[in-house]
Amino acid sequence: MKVTIVGAGNVGATAADVIASKEIAEDIVLLDIKEGFAEGKALDLMQTSSTKGFNSVITGTTGDYSLTEGSDVVVITSGIPRKPGMTREELIGINANIVKDVSKNILAHTSNPIIVMVSNPMDTMTYLALKSTGLDPKRVIGMGGALDSSRFKTYISLAINKPQKNIDGIVIGGHGDTTMIPLHRLAKYNGEPLSKLLGIEETEKVVKSTMIGGATLTKLLGTSAWYAPGSSIAYLVDSILNDKKYIIPCSVFLDGHYGLNDICIGVPCSIGKNGVEQIVQLDLNKDEMEKLSSSADAVRSMNLTLINHT
Ligand code: NAI
Ligand code: 2OP
Repeated sequence: MKVTIVGAGNVGATAADVIASKEIAEDIVLLDIKEGFAEGKALDLMQTSSTKGFNSVITGTTGDYSLTEGSDVVVITSGIPRKPGMTREELIGINANIVKDVSKNILAHTSNPIIVMVSNPMDTMTYLALKSTGLDPKRVIGMGGALDSSRFKTYISLAINKPQKNIDGIVIGGHGDTTMIPLHRLAKYNGEPLSKLLGIEETEKVVKSTMIGGATLTKLLGTSAWYAPGSSIAYLVDSILNDKKYIIPCSVFLDGHYGLNDICIGVPCSIGKNGVEQIVQLDLNKDEMEKLSSSADAVRSMNLTLINHT
């Protein structure tokens, strides 16, 4: 199993670390444009092999796409991250050109990879990668819902003082501070609805904290987060390569699902060796459907901005 990660920065290198540490793939290629950077990260990570006890091989390269040949999965994290006060959407112009260029280079060496898009604004970048590569929509997957859901579970866990591993909570919609939809009605602890464990005001606080989860970290760290994003990428890649068919909210192309067309936006999917194995149709109530529809309007308007930028 081979994974290429384009962009050896905070998120890309952390994803490589988790993928190697868990031996999710044998062969990991890290590619960056900054001279020597990916080579350095790869060598540093390889030097954790004996103490962590993994056999995966991590290779770094400055822009040599021939090393990415035959990748089963390509994760795209290249681009610029947010600075405090910036929205994910403000990254569009620079990141769009990077994503188009990277996608073209990848396809020159691997004809039918599964692409996991991470660069922001992620839903729009996923749409761009899909349109610019012409890949089967099942093979272009945006990572955002996995991260937002893990943040949702963290805030639920802190509010109810129970371990995260027994919490179910999913976030759908766009991967943006105002567009994501933490589905608190469907959240559970050990099968018990969250509404029985938390009052309305506290639930609202959890939802709000989740929605600004990325911005909170950007403010604290001075750049966007990497541990949870890297771990969420590895979880998604594991589900693909090892055909785990985990249900993960991902930004995928919708063709009538949830009443939406011609858009990539976060909905729960079964993720396996063919990419998106199935889009899960949740039974959303009127309020949740309305939120998803406004979230889709915002993502669509970002897609239009993209068309004007490129
Ligand atoms: P970073 O700045 O640490 O790393 C980005 C890397 O991409 C840099 O090393 C840079 O040299 C490289 N790069 C730039 N242009 C490239 C090109 N054409 N080819 C190859 N490499 C190139 O940034 P970080 O924190 O790793 O974030 C990366 C992206 O991921 C950002 O757009 C950020 O907003 C996004 N992000 C998305 C998340 C999600 O849930 N979808 C979560 C966290 C970050
Ligand atoms: C995050 O959610 C900025 O998308 C990045 O941390």
